[in-house]
This record gives sequence, C-alpha cells and structure tokens, in this order.
Amino acid sequence: MFRNLLVTGGAGFVGSTLALALKAHHPDMRVTALDNLHRRGSELSLARLRAGGVRFVHGDIRIAEDVAAAGTFDLLLDCSAEPSVVAGIGGSPAYVTQTNLLGTLNCLEAARQHGACVLFLSTSRVYPLAPLRQIPLIENDSRFEIDGARCALPGLSAAGVAEDFPLGGPRSVYGATKLASELFAIEYADSYGVPALIDRCGVLTGPWQMGKVDQGVVVHWVASHAFGRPLRYFGYGGTGKQVRDILHVGDLVDLVERQLRVLPQARGEIYNVGGGRPGSVSLRELTDLCRLSTGKTVAVEPVLEIRAADIPLYLSDTQRVQRAFDWSPVHTPESIVAEIAEWVAEHARELEAIMA
Ligand SMILES: NC(=O)c1ccc[n+]([C@@H]2O[C@H](COP(=O)([O-])OP(=O)(O)OC[C@H]3O[C@@H](n4cnc5c(N)ncnc54)[C@H](O)[C@@H]3O)[C@@H](O)[C@H]2O)c1
Repeated sequence: MFRNLLVTGGAGFVGSTLALALKAHHPDMRVTALDNLHRRGSELSLARLRAGGVRFVHGDIRIAEDVAAAGTFDLLLDCSAEPSVVAGIGGSPAYVTQTNLLGTLNCLEAARQHGACVLFLSTSRVYPLAPLRQIPLIENDSRFEIDGARCALPGLSAAGVAEDFPLGGPRSVYGATKLASELFAIEYADSYGVPALIDRCGVLTGPWQMGKVDQGVVVHWVASHAFGRPLRYFGYGGTGKQVRDILHVGDLVDLVERQLRVLPQARGEIYNVGGGRPGSVSLRELTDLCRLSTGKTVAVEPVLEIRAADIPLYLSDTQRVQRAFDWSPVHTPESIVAEIAEWVAEHARELEAIMA
C-alpha cells in the first residue's frame, strides 16, 4: 500500500515503536526514522532501529533542509515533538513552539511536495484546562470518577471526553502547539489535498518509553519502584486519586495499521485515542500495581501544591475511533505495568542513569 515511510521523531518512544512494527509487518516498505536525539534515551533506539531494518537519519524538523535530506516518502507519521505538557512553562517557549509547530509545518510542507499522506500524533492536551477542571467528579477510596449524572458540557459523559468537547481557553503551550498543528494538517488536507488523519492521544506507554516526572508517568512510576526512588503525589489533597487513561503503544500500532488502510481518503478527521475508562488508573492504584510487579515499596510523599497545567482526571471517550476502525485496546493497566516492570528489570543498567 505504502512503499516509503518517514517517521519523524523516529528514535522516540512512539516513533521507534511504530517504525519497527511497520517494518516488521511490511518488509518491502522502506522505513526511515528522522530524529535529532533531543530526548534523553532516544539514542538507545539506534541499535534497535538498525537491527529492525529501519534507516536512521539524524536531523531536526525545525530545519526544512533536514526534512528534505530524509529523501522521498509517500507516508509520514509525525511523532517528533517536545511532548511534555510543562514544556516552556517558567522558561522560554522557543524549543516547544519551534519543534511542535514550526517543525510540524516543515513536515506538512514536505508531505505536500512529495504527494504523501500524513498521520499526525496529537494529544488530549489540546482540550483546555478550565472545562477539564470543571468535569464533575465523585471521589471514592482509590480514585476520582466522572459523575455521569452531572455532566453538562458538550462532549462529556461518564465515558470521558469526546471530540466535540469545548476548545476555547488556555491549555498549556504544549497543547496550543499541537492544536495549531492540527489546524494546519486540516488546512493542508483541504487546500492542497494532503490526506491527513489526526489521533488525539491520552497517555501512551509501554517498554522503551524514557519516562520522566513530567512525561511518561507510568514508566517513571514503575522505574522509581524498581530503582527504589521516592515519589510524590502532587495536588488534590496529596491522595494520589488523580486519574488518566493509559494506552499500550502496541494497541496504538494496531490502530495505526487499520487507519493506514483508509488514510489516502482522509481529509483531516480527528479521533480521541486512549485506553478509555476500562484502561484508566489513578496514581494510587498505579502505586499498588507497581508494588505487585516489582515486589518493592517506595515512600510516596503527599504534596498539596497542584502542578502547572495539571488536571484531576482525563479519560478519552473512544467511541468514535472504536466504531470507525473496529478497534479496541487489548492491554490492561495490570498487564501494561507488569510488562514495563519486566523491561526495566531486563535493561536496568542502561535505564538507571537515563531515568535519574
Ligand atoms: N507519550 C505520550 O503519552 C503521548 C501522549 C499524547 C501524544 N503524544 C505525542 O506522540 C508523539 C510522540 O511522543 P513520544 O511519547 O514518543 O515522545 P518522545 O519524546 O519519546 O519522542 C519524540 C522524539 O522526537 C524527537 N525530537 C524532538 N525534537 C525534535 C526535533 N526538533 N527534530 C527532530 N526530532 C525531534 C526526540 O528526540 C524524540 O526522540 C508526540 O507528538 C507527542 O506529542 C505522546
């Protein structure tokens, strides 16, 4: 179907996983991973990419010539980003805006010139903070739940946040760069006929994610247990009841394969993608799962301060994407944590320094 795939951010967690999986599923496809290795730990992907038959090009999407140097392609998976929601907060927004917005524009422009299709990895963080913070909640022993009886916002139900949730108001610099990029992907689809599809992802996780405190929380939590490092529950009374839906990157691979079949006809459609209510976990529940999987207990300190751009709960309402692609996630929070714990144990020596 496609002969020449370019994955930007191809040494990152999502990019390298997609590049390797697609190469394995379609051996005749030429797969190129472009990355500037900005993310600490991305360099660990290079040997895996090589072994999997993926060509690596060291380049920066902020520089149009670097994108051009990757050569021709008929499919672009845009996975290059500064993916932290706190990027630019308290400092300069230059890197996050130049990569996530201007860099994406360079990628879209290269796709237009090559007549390629585009799948853009966006984020649930395009939804603004104020309405997300107004989601009516019930507090139980281990987590917050959406109070379905009091949902008054459009696109909100006990199943979570759907694509027609309000978009007005601030959302973080990161979220703004991704929303602006979505708008340009839709514009390129309409004005230039560049087939494009947008996945607004909740928390993605799995082996080979270089988890840090501000991004990649599931891996950060598991690794902190494995390496015996203390953790903190920020905000919301310091109880660790904040909730996210988590999706194993393998389930994303399955979805992307299904989406590629219709991508040539796509015109900028948007899908919320995540584990949904069944694939959700609170930090407190995550701590329990980590104890089970690693056999270790670490101190978790309650901190009352709410972190910048934080929200008590996010659940992706995935009904649209499930219907459109006959897709549903197969991994559970339990199986995901167990698999990550195994991976951390297997690669403890190289990961311990990176995840410091
Ligand atoms: N991981 C998640 O939970 C999550 C959730 C929602 C959306 N996303 C989106 O998925 C995509 C992939 O995220 P990830 O989790 O793999 O992050 P990651 O940090 O592991 O990967 C991103 C890669 O992009 C590279 N990169 C950064 N700046 C670059 C630049 N200027 N030029 C070239 N490469 C550059 C980094 O070196 C890194 O390897 C991002 O677009 C992110 O916004 C991720």
